[in-house]
Amino acid sequence: EKGISVGLMGFGTVGMGVFRLIENHREKLQHQLGCSISVKRILVVDPDKNRDIQVDPDLMTVHAADILEDPEIDIVIEVMGGIERTRELLNRAFQNKKHVVTANKDLMALHGNELEDAASRNNCDLFYEASVAGGIPIIRAVKDGLVADEINKIMGIVNGTTNYILTRMDDEGLSYEDALQEAKELGFAEADPSGDVEGLDAARKMAILARLAFSVPVELSDVEVKGIKDFPVDDLKFGKQLGLTMKLIGFTHVRDHEVEVSVEPAFLPEKHPLAAVKNENNAVFVNSAAVGETMFYGPGAGSLPTAAAVMSDVAAVVNNISSGVPGQSYLEPCYEKKILASNQRFGS
Ligand code: NDP
Ligand code: HSE
Repeated sequence: EKGISVGLMGFGTVGMGVFRLIENHREKLQHQLGCSISVKRILVVDPDKNRDIQVDPDLMTVHAADILEDPEIDIVIEVMGGIERTRELLNRAFQNKKHVVTANKDLMALHGNELEDAASRNNCDLFYEASVAGGIPIIRAVKDGLVADEINKIMGIVNGTTNYILTRMDDEGLSYEDALQEAKELGFAEADPSGDVEGLDAARKMAILARLAFSVPVELSDVEVKGIKDFPVDDLKFGKQLGLTMKLIGFTHVRDHEVEVSVEPAFLPEKHPLAAVKNENNAVFVNSAAVGETMFYGPGAGSLPTAAAVMSDVAAVVNNISSGVPGQSYLEPCYEKKILASNQRFGS
């Protein structure tokens, strides 16, 4: 029986987590999926870098073609980040009939429609569970769990770095700079953390969620965004004295067929369930017509939680390959709803 070979693009925080999970759960994965999974090639910038995991040097490459042109590689796991180069590589992967699993919300928020289209034209799968809320299976919940329901509203904390910074400042009195430095060292922050602290990372995730929940093409420019970077530290202290906790909240809802998406800091009463979400954890409330309110909670960033989400997608691809039905795109655009651009909203 032929096993499944994967090409890993990126061997940083998430890539090494994926490698560890594949190594540590080799037998369980084989048992559950009915075939073995092995990493055939790993794409990096610097193969000589000192890393936490030592791997066979023959696995490492700096040439994307070693993955994209290898007919034995079935699945590309993209955990290198970046937008334009990565977009080009994933389009090439689909042309070469490779399935793709990615954790890249920057790319999916900007070019998700194009990539979904390229995937389905080539009968390939494209899954991106890890791109929103790290280890929480929120994309599958929205697309599969609530498939026969109608989502009205999604609200939550979807950026681990800012939640970590706010928690450390609020609970331990750390400075903004020290808390951000910790988030970087722990691997939660992006290579360029300005997207985290300015709210853009959360905006990208909310754009992906809104698109999936409401089947509307959401552009990043449709999301109203405010981050925590310039938030006055004194306000945080006054809020605390009044029993309020500041959180960066992502929000999207539909009303009269119009969808709005926003990200902004908000003070919550300490008893609010989202106020209790600390450190790098994320939490997402979904309000839907049939089920009512559901809440999803868990680590929104970090090596193994994110890698676990990546591996759930790998398992979905393997199952689709086994049953002969890959190419099941997540997006079924429905244009009866429309996105309300941020400058069309009341009060803007
Ligand atoms: P890291 O910076 O830790 O790792 C990036 C890896 O990709 C490195 O191994 C790097 O090589 C390699 N790489 C980067 N650019 C290139 C390139 N142009 N060509 C080849 N290899 C390249 O990133 P993370 O693991 O933190 O994040 C990866 C992705 O996952 C990003 O899209 C991120 O947004 C997303 N993500 C991250 C989470 C987290 O908690 N960290 C959570 C959810 C999603 P080298 O090692 O040689 O430098
Ligand atoms: N930088 C991101 C965060 C990683 O802090 O949430 C997870 O997407």
